[in-house]
Amino acid sequence: MDAKKIRDDFPILKRKIRGKTLVYLDNAATTQKPRQVIQALSEFYENHNANIHRGVHTLSDEATALVEETRSKTAAFIGAPKPETVVFTRNATEAINLVAHSWGRKFLKGGDEVLLTEMEHHSNLVPWQMLAQERGILLRFIPMTPEGTLDLSAAAGLLGPKTKLVSFTAASNALGTLIPVEKILALAKSAGAKTLVDASQWAPHRPLDVARWDCDFLAFSAHKMLGPTGVGVLYGKEELLEQMDPFLGGGDMISRVFLDRFTPNALPFKFEAGTPNIADEAAFAAALDYLTKVGLTAVREHEAALTKKAIETLSALPGITIYGPKDLAQRGGVVSFNVDGLHAHDIGTSLDLEGIAVRAGHHCCQPLMNKLKVPGTARASFYLYNTLEEVAALGRALEKTIAFFTKKPAAVSSHG
Ligand SMILES: Cc1ncc(COP(=O)(O)O)c(C=O)c1O
Repeated sequence: MDAKKIRDDFPILKRKIRGKTLVYLDNAATTQKPRQVIQALSEFYENHNANIHRGVHTLSDEATALVEETRSKTAAFIGAPKPETVVFTRNATEAINLVAHSWGRKFLKGGDEVLLTEMEHHSNLVPWQMLAQERGILLRFIPMTPEGTLDLSAAAGLLGPKTKLVSFTAASNALGTLIPVEKILALAKSAGAKTLVDASQWAPHRPLDVARWDCDFLAFSAHKMLGPTGVGVLYGKEELLEQMDPFLGGGDMISRVFLDRFTPNALPFKFEAGTPNIADEAAFAAALDYLTKVGLTAVREHEAALTKKAIETLSALPGITIYGPKDLAQRGGVVSFNVDGLHAHDIGTSLDLEGIAVRAGHHCCQPLMNKLKVPGTARASFYLYNTLEEVAALGRALEKTIAFFTKKPAAVSSHG
C-alpha cells in the first residue's frame, strides 16, 4: 500500500493550518474523503438528483438504482447474505437506537438483562439506559482491566438465562483495544442471548464477515470509512428484522395505509421512513469501492506500522502515559495518551499550532475515563493516508509542547 500515492486522492490533505501542512490524526472521529467520493456526490446532484422508490421518471429510477447499488455493495463489504438485511440510518448511533427501540421494546421485559462492556461509546450505552429506565431491564457490564482490555474471565459469570442481549464494541474508540469479538459472540450464544456488534471502529480498518461472526446485529457509520456524513448502516439477521416493528413512521416504510392503521413495507424499507439521505448514500459506494481496491488487510497492516512507531516515539518523551494494551496485536490504529501536569485539551490546542489534528477529551466514553481516573486523554488515530513522517511530526510537536509547558519561568530580578 502506497500511502503517499493515496494522499493525492485527498484534496484536504494539502491544506495548510497556520502555514503548516495539515497532519490529520483524528480519524477515529471522522475520516477525510477522497476525490472519488466528493465527485460521486457532485455527480449525483449534477446528473441524477430525484427522490427515490416512488418515481415514474428516469431521474428517480437512476437515483433509486444508485442507492440500491450502495446497499448491495455494503452487503458484499460486510459479508451480509442479502442486501435487504442492510438498513440505512443516519449513523451508527441511530442504528443502535433502532435496535433498542424496535427489537428491545418488543422483546425485552422487566427483569431481563442486557450485557454491555465498560468500554462502550455512549452510543452503545445511553440507548440501553433509556430502555432500562422505561422497562426495568438490568444492565450488566464486562469489566475493563487497568490495561484497557476486557476481563473475559468475569464475562461468563455475568451471563445467564436472563441475559437477552450482549451488545459490545469490536474495537475501543478511546483506547484502540481490539476486542475478541468471536469469543464474546460464542459466550453470548452459549447463554442463548442475541448479539449486537458496534463495528464503528472495526469496519473501516479490518475485514469483517457477519456471516462468519454470525452476530444478530451490527452497526457502523460511513463517515468513519471515507464516506459522507449522514449515512449509517444497521445489518440484522433477516428473521429478526422481519419480527421487529418499524422504528419511525411515515412515507416509504408502509405498504398500505388506512385512516386507522397501516401495514409495514418489506425489508429494508420498513425501517427507512421518509426521504433518506439519498445523495450521501449514493456517494458511499465510491468509498466502499476505494477501500475494496486498496484492501482492508493492507490498511490494517499500514495502521499497525504507524501505531508501533507512534508508541515507540511517544514513549521516549518525558512524562507521557500511553493507555491501552501493551501487546500491539491487541491494538488498532489509536494511541491515547496524557502528559504529566497537562490537560488533554492543552495538548490538543498546542498540537494544532503545529498543524496537527488530534482529539482531546473523554471521546464519548465517560465511564471508561472514570475507570482510568482521568478526565480525558489526547488521542491520535490513524488511517490509510497517514505516513511515518506524520508520526515523526507528532513526536516533534509533542516534544516542543512538553518543553514549553515545563519550562521554568525566567528569574525576575528584584531591586529591593
Ligand atoms: C465505537 C463507536 N461507536 C459508536 C460511535 C458513534 O458513531 P456516530 O457518531 O457516527 O453515530 C462511535 C463514534 O465515534 C464510535 O467510535
